Formats: sequence, structure tokens, C-alpha cells
Amino acid sequence: MTMTQTTAEAPSFTLTDNRNGRSWELPVLHGTVGPDVIDVRALYRETGCFTYDPGFTSTGSCQSGLTYIDGEQGILRHRGYPIEELAENVEFTDVCYLLLYGELPDAGQKQAFEHDIAHHTMLHEQFYNFFRGFRRDSHPMAVMCAAVGALSAFYHDGTDIHSAEHREVAALRLIAKMPTIAAVAYKYSLGQPFVYPRNELGYAANFLRMMYANPCEDYEVNPVLARALDRVLILHADHEQNASTSTVRLAGSSGANPFACIAAGIASLWGPAHGGANEAVLRMLSEIGGRDRIPEFIERAKDDDDPFRLMGFGHRVYKNYDPRAKILQASCHEVLAELGIENEPLLDLAMELERIALEDDYFVERKLFPNVDFYSGIIYRALGIPTSMFTAMFAIGRTVGWIAQWQEMIADPAMKIGRPRQLYVGETERHMDPAGQAD
Ligand code: SDX
Repeated sequence: MTMTQTTAEAPSFTLTDNRNGRSWELPVLHGTVGPDVIDVRALYRETGCFTYDPGFTSTGSCQSGLTYIDGEQGILRHRGYPIEELAENVEFTDVCYLLLYGELPDAGQKQAFEHDIAHHTMLHEQFYNFFRGFRRDSHPMAVMCAAVGALSAFYHDGTDIHSAEHREVAALRLIAKMPTIAAVAYKYSLGQPFVYPRNELGYAANFLRMMYANPCEDYEVNPVLARALDRVLILHADHEQNASTSTVRLAGSSGANPFACIAAGIASLWGPAHGGANEAVLRMLSEIGGRDRIPEFIERAKDDDDPFRLMGFGHRVYKNYDPRAKILQASCHEVLAELGIENEPLLDLAMELERIALEDDYFVERKLFPNVDFYSGIIYRALGIPTSMFTAMFAIGRTVGWIAQWQEMIADPAMKIGRPRQLYVGETERHMDPAGQAD
């Protein structure tokens, strides 16, 4: 079967089956920017064949206007705005508003949005009992997964996915409550009392205070650190159809409530190949320990027989430097300087590891560059956030992207339940013998 590109008025690909000489025209669809897509929705009906694309490397699963990525150029835009401009000029709540409503908010819209977010940051008082069933040493991502799924038990009255009002309030509740849930998980692990959110604080500052205040002394939020964390959250807000976002969309395509869908996204993000990489980077840097051992780990990363991979390197889409990693590396220096940490050995080690890797043919040939997870953990660590909480931090930032993608899917008239097919390679039909025994 061969495909040739045609230049007819209605652009299409001609698909020819060289087993019987039959041909089909497959329509080509154009977006506003980026690769065209070949519309294969009629392929099985017309040809009796499925496409085959494990990992969906060449598959567009939906139409979306939220985030555009150009992996070759290292471009990331949210609703058309380059990530570099958003990280430099606006706050995380501006980016939340942009993703949810399509435009950056004016002063009045931002004030109203932040008021709505602030007034959804508290948890139902009974919800705090939920945490007390966990062991104190539970991984925060296990707690986040369970707690966010459990929100649908507390807000079942607001989960009619066909109600625009319910969809909006679910988005506000999830964006608002994720920091509270993460901070409660942290306090619970310490055996310290839970700290309630404060409505007069900004989003990032509120989180830092819930993490580090206690009844015996309050916590004065450092505005430079709050701004740095706010920027890190912007860099994690959304990222096209990555594994966890695709999980949220697939869960949502069955009509599941938004809390259950976001819980599914958290579960997917936890994997070390995805959002779990930020935690794995810190553990890897600690294991490397010093510059002298970098060559040993570079060789291990290149060894096909060694499952070790250089965590925080490589990306399915970026075949250039992840633009978020560049901003995070600069932010590392800003945070460390603000904290008076002249020398952070792990940052020095990370930058030396990057330098060596980017000079190594193996990484150059495979276009393996640092990704968003390579430097973020160094900032979290400087802010006093434990390594086990790093992926929970990623989930806090990504919740707005997940819920905005979920909203976009629910509102899409073309939405259908997601149901991929397969290439079956198992046993053909066979029968048990008359005695009911296997052949
Ligand atoms: C995130 O999709 C998103 O947008 C995700 C994300 C988001 O914002 O949502 O950007 C967040 O998940 C970032 C990625 C974080 N993960 C890691 O840092 C883990 C380490 N990276 C790898 O596991 C890997 O690079 C992936 C999973 C990120 C991408 O894997 P792909 O696209 O499936 O690429 P691949 O595994 O086919 O690798 C291609 C080649 C292979 O070598 P060959 O078989 O061609 O010889 O590159 C090698 C791989 O072995 N390779 C690595 C490597 N990453 C790829 N070798 C050593 N170290 C690595 N990190």
C-alpha cells in the first residue's frame, strides 16, 4: 500500500492498495499553523484497515486552540502568546484565565477571577478526615490521585458535564484546591496541623504559606520566591496532547466527571517518563554526586543494555532545547541568589552534565536536550519543597491545562468516546475438546 501527495483543489493524499490496485483519496486538513493532518476517519469503513501508531507518534487525536508546540524550533505558545513573554510579563492566574477563556484578562476580569479562585481554595471540613486514612509516609502523588478523585464525592452536585456552569465551577474548584490538597499532604507527612488558605494572598504565596506556616509562628512569604514559583507554575500550565492530558481527554470522552478525569491525569503524570521525571532528576543528580562520575552515567545512558536514562533529557516533541528549560535554568540562578545560596552543587552538576551531554554525539544525533523537568527540581529544592513533592508541584501547574483541554473536548461537537483499535497478534480461533479440556 503506497501513499502519494496530490495537489488537487481539495488537498488530499491518494492511498493505493498495491495488493488489489484500489485507491482512495484521504482529505488533508489544515490548522492555523503547524503540520497538516490526513483525515483517516473513514479509513476503516473504506479500506477495512486500521492505522497503526503505538505511542501516537504521528497521530493527531483532536483539534485544539489552546497550545501550539513546534518541536524542531523549540516553540511553545498558549493561545498564540510565546511562553517566554507569558513567563516574563504575566502571572499564573493570567495564564489560567487565558487558557480557560481565550484572552488575557483585563484588570477587572483578573480581580474577579482571582476572587473566585481564592474563595474556592478551602476544602470541605470533612475532607480533612480523608487524609488521615493514609500512612504518614505515603507518596504525595498517591494522596493527590486519591484526594482529587474523592472531590467528586464532595461536589457531586456540580458534575453535570453538559452544564456550562458546572463545568466552569469545577474548573475553578480544581485550580483553587490543588495547592491546598498538596500542602495538606505535605503537612500530614510531617505530622503538623493543616494550614488554611488566606484569601488576601496570591496563588503561589498562598501555597508557600500553607506549606511552611504553623500555629506557633506565621510564615512571611518572600515575594521574590513567590514570583519564582508563580513563573514555574506558568511553565507547567499546558503542553498540547501529552500523556496525562490525553489521559484526561480519554477519561472525559466517556462522560466521566471532571474530578475523576483530573485524578486520571495525575496518575499518568506520576510516571518517571512524564512528570515523575523532575523527582527522578534530583535523585539522579544525588546519585551522580560529583563531576567525576558524570562520564560513567553518560555511558550508562547510552548503553542499550542498561535501562538507565538521563532523566530530564529528551522529549517526544522537542528535538531542540525545551524553551521552558531555558527559562527554568535562568530562574534557578535568581532563586539561589535571593536565598544567598552562592553555590548549589546540584545546579553546578546539572549544568556540567548538560554541557557534556550536549557535546556527545549520542545525544546530538538523537536531538536529546534538557526538558522542563531538568531544572525545575533545583528551584523546588531551593524553596524547601521535598523531592517527593516535585511531581505534585507539576500537577498543581498542569491542572489548568488539563481542565481547559477537558472543557474544549466537552464543547467539541465532534467529540466521541475514545476507542482505539489494535493489530491482533494472538491465537486464532480454537476449541476445547468435548471433555472441556484445552486442545
Ligand atoms: C515531560 O509530552 C510532553 O509534552 C511531556 C511534558 C509535558 O509538559 O507534558 O513535556 C513533560 O514528560 C517531559 C519528559 C520528562 N521525561 C524524562 O525526562 C525522562 C527521560 N526521557 C526519556 O524517557 C524520553 O526522552 C521521553 C520519554 C521523554 C521521550 O521518549 P520517546 O519520544 O519515546 O523517545 P525514545 O524513547 O524513542 O528515544 C529515542 C532515542 C532512543 O534511542 P535509540 O533506540 O534510537 O537508540 O533516544 C534515546 C532512546 O534510547 N533516549 C534517551 C533518552 N531519551 C531518549 N537516551 C538516554 N537518556 C534519555 N533521557
